[in-house]
This record gives sequence, C-alpha cells and structure tokens, in this order.
Amino acid sequence: MGKSNVWLRGLSLMILSASLNVPSRAQEAQSSNLQTVMPGLNLMPIPASVQMGSGSFKIDASFNVTRTGHSDARLEGALQRFLDRLGKQTGLLLPPWNSPTVAKLRMVVHVDHDSKPVQELGEDESYVLEVAPSGANISAPTDLGALHGLQTFLQLVTVSPDGFVAPAVIIKDTPRFPWRGLMIDTARHFIPLEILRRNIDGMETVKMNVFHWHLSENQGFRVESRKFPKLHQMGSDGLYYTQDEIRGLIAYARERGIRVVPEFDLPGHSTAWFVGHPEFASGPGPFTIERRWGVFDPAFDPTNEKVYKFLDEFIGEMAKLFPDHFFHVGGDEVNGKAWDANPKIQEFIRAHDLKGNAGLQLYFNKKLQSIVSKHGKSMVGWDEVLDPTLPKDIVIQSWRGQAALAEAAKQGYRGILSNGYYLDLGWSAARHYAVDPMGDAASSLSAEEKQRILGGESCMWSEYVNAENIDSRIWPRNAAIAERLWSPQEVRDPAWMYARMHVLSVQLEWLGLTHQHNYLRSLRRIAGAASTEEFNALRTLADVVEPVKDYMREQTATEPATSEMPLNRVVDAIPLESRAAREFSEMVDKYVGSSCRDAATGAQIRAQLILWRDNDAKLQPLAQRSFLVKEVASTSQDLAAVASVGLAALDALEHGGNPDEAWKTQQSSLVQQAQKPKGQLLLMPTPAIQKLIDSASVGGSCAAPRQ
Ligand code: ACM
Repeated sequence: MGKSNVWLRGLSLMILSASLNVPSRAQEAQSSNLQTVMPGLNLMPIPASVQMGSGSFKIDASFNVTRTGHSDARLEGALQRFLDRLGKQTGLLLPPWNSPTVAKLRMVVHVDHDSKPVQELGEDESYVLEVAPSGANISAPTDLGALHGLQTFLQLVTVSPDGFVAPAVIIKDTPRFPWRGLMIDTARHFIPLEILRRNIDGMETVKMNVFHWHLSENQGFRVESRKFPKLHQMGSDGLYYTQDEIRGLIAYARERGIRVVPEFDLPGHSTAWFVGHPEFASGPGPFTIERRWGVFDPAFDPTNEKVYKFLDEFIGEMAKLFPDHFFHVGGDEVNGKAWDANPKIQEFIRAHDLKGNAGLQLYFNKKLQSIVSKHGKSMVGWDEVLDPTLPKDIVIQSWRGQAALAEAAKQGYRGILSNGYYLDLGWSAARHYAVDPMGDAASSLSAEEKQRILGGESCMWSEYVNAENIDSRIWPRNAAIAERLWSPQEVRDPAWMYARMHVLSVQLEWLGLTHQHNYLRSLRRIAGAASTEEFNALRTLADVVEPVKDYMREQTATEPATSEMPLNRVVDAIPLESRAAREFSEMVDKYVGSSCRDAATGAQIRAQLILWRDNDAKLQPLAQRSFLVKEVASTSQDLAAVASVGLAALDALEHGGNPDEAWKTQQSSLVQQAQKPKGQLLLMPTPAIQKLIDSASVGGSCAAPRQ
C-alpha cells in the first residue's frame, strides 16, 4: 500500500470533509476525524495539515541532520540543539550535526532565504515536514519555519517495539495567529534568568513566539538603568537583570524564534520607581518598595514636564536595549487617588479642560505614545489605554474582557487577547482552551477588522508564584493556550487536548522544567520525616485538591499576603489542575452515561472511593508532626466523608435501592460542607460525588422506579 489518501486540512473544512467522506455540517465531526486519523500522534499544537504515510523512520545512534539552501547561524545552532534534545529524549548518543553518516538515516533541513535580523511580527513561520522510512526532510521559506518543523519532529519520535521511530507523515504547517505570547511577571516576585530560559525552551516546544517581560511594578523595578541607576538600585532589593543579562536573554529567545517585548507599567503600578525618584510621583514621598498585593495609589504626575523628559531618556535607553519593534507601557489599573489628592493636578485638569482622571491619563498616554514612537517603536498597552484619538499603530492587549478586543479592532487598532488566558487564576486547561481570540464579540467583526486581531498571550502574574513553583503554574496548561493560538480554530476537543497535553507534559521536563518533580519535592518538605504510607497519603490528598480560583486567594486569606511570605504550603505546591479529580469525574460521567449499568466502571469508582475513604487515617499522624500537613487535615477528613457518601450512593445504585429526598438532602449537605474552601484549597472530586447522589436518589437518572 502506498501513502494513505487521507488529508487533514484544518484550514480548509471543505477539502477536509470531501477527502474524508464525512458530512461537512458538524465542526465537531471534523475535529473528531482529525483524532481518528491521527491516533498516537501526540502533537501539540496540532498542525494545519497532516497526511499519514505508511511505515516509520527508525532513529538509532547513527541518526544525523544536515542542511541545504540558505545558510544561517540561528538554524545551525538549532540543528545542534535539536540533536541534543533528541539525545535526551531517547538516551541515544548522537554525533554532532552534519557528521558523515549513513545517508538513509539523515534528516535534511532546507531553508530558502534569510529571516529578518530583528524578528518581526508576521514573518513567514510555515514549514513542510516529510517523514518516510528512508529519511526525513524539513523545508521552510526561512529558518523560523525550520525551527518549528524540528520541534514537530521531536514530538513525532516515540518508543516502539522496534526501537525509537517517527511515523511516516507529511505535515504542512503554518500558524493561525502571528502573535502567540507568554507574559511573565518578574516584578512581584523576581524570577532568575535560568528559569526564564527554561520557560522560553517550553515556549519553543509549543511554538509560541513572543515573550512579554513584565519588568516593573509597585513591588520591584527589575532592569539595570545606566542613565537612572537609582531605579534598580533602590527599587529592586538588589534583584534585577543587568543589561548584559538582558541582551543574553534576548539572544537566547531569538535563537528559538521568540521575540521579547518589554513592559514598563505606567503611570500606575509604579511605586518601585519612586523609591529612587520621588520627584516624578503625584504625591509626596518618601516611598518604599510595596510588599503587599493589590492596586495601590502611587502614580506618575502627568502634569510635570520633567516626567516626560525623564521618560524620553529612559525609554530611549530601553528602546536600544530591547530591539523588538513593540514596547509595552502598561496603562492598567490607575485608581486616580494620588491625582485626586493633589490640588495642583486637579487644577491642571480644569485648566486643560480634560475629562477628569481618565482625561488626564489620556493626556499622559498621548505624550507617552509620541515618546515611544520617537524611539522607533509601536506602543502596546492594556485595554485601559484604548481611545479613538490615539494613533492607529498602537496595539491593545485586552485583559478585562473580549469585548475590548473587538472594540479596538472596530476602531482600527490591532489587538491581542489575554482575557481568558490568565494562568494565575487557576482555571482548567479546558477552560482556557475554550477561549478563542475570534470568539465572543470578535465573531461578528468584518473580515478586515478580524485581520487586526493578532493573537493572544497567556499571563503569569506572580503574587503567588516564585522561582520554585513558577513552572507548575505555567505548565502544562500553557500548552492548551499555545495550541489555541497556533492550530486551526476547529481543533477544540478537550479530551483529545488533555490526552496530548499529558504526553507533552512529561517531555517538557527534558527541557529542565520542573512542574512535575518540584511538586513531589515540595510535598516532601511539607511532610518532613514521613513513612512511605504517610507520604503516599499526603500525595493522595494533594492530588485531588486545587487552590481556590480567580482572586479568591486574597478573600480566603487569614492575614493579608505579602511578597515576604514563604510559598511553602500545600496550596503552593500542588498543580493548579487536578488530573486525578478530572479523571474521576470522567469515570463518573461514563458510569452515569451507561444508566449506571457499566459494572466495570462502577468497580473502578468503588476502588477509588475506598482508597479516599481510608486515606485520612493514614494521614492524621503526619498532621500531628507537620504544621503544613495540619493545615490540610480537615480537608483530608472531608475527602474521607465525601468518599463514604459516594460509596453509599454506589451501594444504592448497585442494590437497586431508591433513596428518598431526605437521604438526598442529608448526603448533599455533607458534600456541600466539603465544598467550602479550607486552607485555600478546593476538594475537586465533590461535584462528581454529588452526581452519584443525584443519579441514585428518587427522580435521578439511575433511580429505580418507585413501587
Ligand atoms: C492587569 O491584569 N492589570 C493587566
């Protein structure tokens, strides 16, 4: 048999459905067909088009890679990194790239022409990857596409009964959006360069191409300024990046096809600037570095001409340091209190006939925009800066809602979506995945307006994130957002996404990311000297809890959090999404979906519930010895209690009982009790257990008819 005749064209539903002989009406059918044609292809993000071949390309220690066409230092570096990574993934000792080798085991990478010296928005990132039993080829217009093709190949390699192999396949790929970013807040908690580097490696793996570097906040000013050294010397506790380090990180990102966009948040979120330069603030100093979280009053004084002279010099310095064409000025959450409290500023607003504080911020933004533009950059701002009188080359980053993105596009501005992509809010990967830059208000835009939507960025705000736990706050969920921004819009089945995300998650640790192993390391610290049984009990509990969502961490705190508090509790160690709870919930759905007749699944549910019920007794002795375990002792009791409720519901279902309303009310109230956050944790299996109660009791989907 030759190559299978099946083509997947996510970008062209018509062709996809014609070649697969499926009706074109249901988009779900399309994406589920993608899944049936690509079983075992754990690619993430899913490419624009995949054609399966037959057979596979065997990878052994004689595998090598070389290049033809345009010569490029970035590509040559990438070829060696590719081999290093493949060596780690397989354990094979691979020779350096372009070594003389057996021809049939070669991969050849061909690039047509140069890419831009400073990477630009919208450069061609497409590539074609062909894998056959006799060899593999990547061809791309520029090295950017070749870099993506190499990452796709790494994801194709799997272990097989015959050794390591990559399946025969032809992939033609190109991104859906040109701006696919990750923002990391390195200001609230300082994040060392080494950690940024490994996260940039993670971004390369999932084909993200913008690192948005949030560099200044109330809690810290993180860049060395040679013109204004008091900024970093007094505003950072000594935790800042030198200019050499910044140049190094920009080069590191560029080698991976990633642009670096700096953000200096103005005129609010700016206390740390004023520690060294109180003369630019709207209110009287002195100022100290803020240690609490929240929105604070200090703001630049827009009426002070010296502020603009300072910003001109400062932005001039930073515009040279950061080569990217885009320069982010923040603009979010100015509460106006410092402006209200200053009579001189209020008089300025009246004298210039400005519309209150919003008018004053607009006045500031206009002057700021002209400074940014003078230094050759386009300004990016959070959606608060949107105003039709600003020049159209600015870019709006929407965080407060998707409507702001659509509004910006209607007014002629380009925009990127971050609302729905806040990794710190603890949403499930599926919830992020369901958010589409072209969804919601954007879906009714004209074709021309839609063109202005450049993509999106996930955001890692760092109130509860530090060097230790940041990887697990970003990964693996960030991969779901990366796929949303790269892959065809109709690729959106969450179950398929999770299956691939879990495979990728393991691979990401080969980059040095610590999202999985740091969880266990942190639990060991929490447990102290624990027996294996005690530690496993802690792990069992920790596996099914999640931190409270959205901004509930503040609301459920027993004392206000600060940047000086350690992040060493269970809530800081656990992943933000519980895989065990999700899989339990899927099992319950399957069981209830079978009208509770699927005995095998019923037995699995029972085994899980017994384990949870009996876990608490194993954990309690440890809770007496560790204050960090004690904090979760009542959640452990809750888990035992709801597991018993679940078992009672299963008994009722299996023995054909038909519990009455009183039983249902009593059991449900136990579940509701367990649903209340304790220790800032949520017990995630509770909704599935409620489902078992509802199904079992009178009127429920599995209840026996009443006699
Ligand atoms: C923001 O979350 N204040 C941009």
